[in-house]
Amino acid sequence: MQKKIEEAKRGLENEVKAITSLKEAELLKTKYLGRKGVVSDFMKMLPTLPIEQRAAFGQQLNALKGEITIILEERIASLPSEAAPKGKQELFDITLPGTQPFIGKKHPLTQTIDDIKEVFAGLGFDVAYGPEVELEYYNFDALNIPSDHPSRTDFDTFYIKNDVLLRSQTSTVQIRVMEKQKPPVRIIAPGRVYRPDTVDARHSFMFHQVEGLLVDEGVSFADLKGVLNQFIKTYFGQNVQMRLRPSFFPFTEPSAEVDISCSLCSGKGCCVCSYSGWVEILGAGMVDPNVFHAVHYDAEKYTGFAFGMGVERITMLKHGINDIRLFYENDMRFLSQF
Ligand code: PHE
Repeated sequence: MQKKIEEAKRGLENEVKAITSLKEAELLKTKYLGRKGVVSDFMKMLPTLPIEQRAAFGQQLNALKGEITIILEERIASLPSEAAPKGKQELFDITLPGTQPFIGKKHPLTQTIDDIKEVFAGLGFDVAYGPEVELEYYNFDALNIPSDHPSRTDFDTFYIKNDVLLRSQTSTVQIRVMEKQKPPVRIIAPGRVYRPDTVDARHSFMFHQVEGLLVDEGVSFADLKGVLNQFIKTYFGQNVQMRLRPSFFPFTEPSAEVDISCSLCSGKGCCVCSYSGWVEILGAGMVDPNVFHAVHYDAEKYTGFAFGMGVERITMLKHGINDIRLFYENDMRFLSQF
């Protein structure tokens, strides 16, 4: 018996030298330690032995098992590494470029609002916000808009109930800020506004405005022109011209509509500017004394200016976008260009 065990061990020692791969090592393991392997065959002989020899033989077999395992493990460890792959590692090519994670970016309208905020921050303006669901008082009455004004009908304003509506302009924030704060006031107010317009290439029932308001002692129309000119040159470029046309808003007096030379055709005339060379970008004017009365400011002591611009409008002009609906469709082919 002893001899046979020795022979088996030597047999393995010889065979193990010849193997070159993990697969061959597995085969050897099965041959010696498997269910029908060499050690198992020895085990089957146990019951045929005289009882007094069985315990010793059993011990020898256990020792043999241990030795076989060690011999095999040592051999496996000494195999060249490509013959002994560890898991899936060899399938991973570290020289391949990695998978790019998708990096989102800001919506073009948010980018425009950020740009506007930056220009006005440089001029000392804070940013203020107001509610989109608003009281009629803030959208109309406090802004000196009389109750029979056409914009107050439900053809031009979304009413929620009696005196509650979706704000149709960010001018509401002028009143909310002045109610809370004494002069000097220097704010811009970006946000959404709502009007029951039929949707087409130039209109949407929801769009964005940025309001501006500056109130202090001795503020003049020249200050308004200076601030707007600074904004236009910074945002659209030094070559863009500004033009003011007399206009009317109930909450400013005098009022003006502000045009810039068409940035698409440089003022030569194209379909975007209706061949006039100019496009309107905002409304503005000096704060009407009646607005100051509504917020209990001393209209003899303080003067101020206000303006309101359409964010979609100036984004379209800056980038040559010809349809406002593109902003709201979430089409990545459009959005990823900005
Ligand atoms: N609120 C006006 C509009 O929506 C724009 C405006 C704002 C005009 C401030 C003058 C002063 O058309």
